[in-house]
Amino acid sequence: MEFKNKLNERIELIDKALENYLKPKYPERLYEAMGYSVFAGGKRLRPVLLLSACEAVGGNIEDAVPFACALEMIHTYSLIHDDLPAMDNDDFRRGKPTCHKQFDEALAILAGDGLLTYAFEVMLEAVCAKKDIGLAKAAKLIANYSGSEGMLVGQVVDVESEGTKIDDKTLMYIHDNKTGGLIKAALMAGAMIGGAHGDVVRNFEKIGYNMGIAFQIKDDILDVTSTTEVLGKPVLSDVKNDKQTYVSLYGLDNAQQDYETLSNGAVKLINDMGDKAEFLAWYAESLINREK
Ligand code: IPE
Ligand code: IPE
Ligand code: MG
Ligand code: MG
Ligand code: MG
Repeated sequence: MEFKNKLNERIELIDKALENYLKPKYPERLYEAMGYSVFAGGKRLRPVLLLSACEAVGGNIEDAVPFACALEMIHTYSLIHDDLPAMDNDDFRRGKPTCHKQFDEALAILAGDGLLTYAFEVMLEAVCAKKDIGLAKAAKLIANYSGSEGMLVGQVVDVESEGTKIDDKTLMYIHDNKTGGLIKAALMAGAMIGGAHGDVVRNFEKIGYNMGIAFQIKDDILDVTSTTEVLGKPVLSDVKNDKQTYVSLYGLDNAQQDYETLSNGAVKLINDMGDKAEFLAWYAESLINREK
């Protein structure tokens, strides 16, 4: 219960800061569309991981808040674009019509661009205010794992593989990048903001690799086993798009088994980090039984 309260406090901290960053201004429809998607709901997984990795290495989570918000903005941009007709063509997200359905396609593309650009403004503002090279390195890492070493390239291979047969290695590449990218970024940047270097940061990369692939396996499982009401997004989206997923490649039972192995692997690595990582370990474990 104590951990559950702490999680809610952390989500509230992130949401308040996001509200502050995303105050409406001219042109109103742009900010309305950005805010619409950010505040439609969402578990706030990546910002919670970032703050909690910072805590796990003895850092001050206040220093990490701008980076946590930036990461949620980047994640939300990735969802807005992922749902576009040219990509997964989905009409619901976070329990509401997708950005391009609520507004229009042009504004959805621009709202995604707006969130991505603003994320870097927010991080660089924090870097300049503190004149801290460690924070600058964390921002660079977030750029890498959002782009050329993570989410962006994973999404490219994902959409280009639609309707084709892919091998094990390609599926792992897609999952490790499109989803693992931002999860690794959350953990590694959080640790760096908390003052960690070298092997400690590399250990968080390993945790993020396990957790990221596990998270996408579960997303693939829920696409065929859950409901739109529970998920807040359409089920059978992968089937509709003729996408190869962990489930279509290995079957539901193997997907569930590998999901548990990878998740438990991540939890074990976090547990080995000691007392300050207690909350992060609890949170990682609580994700195993997630229903959305
Ligand atoms: C959905 O991410 C996209 C994936 C990478 C699987 P989440 O499941 O974290 O979505 P929200 O943020 O809670 O809406
Ligand atoms: C998308 O994977 C991961 C992103 C980078 C947005 P999916 O396409 O499976 O995510 P959902 O199921 O639409 O949330
Ligand atoms: Mg997709
Ligand atoms: Mg999708
Ligand atoms: Mg999915």
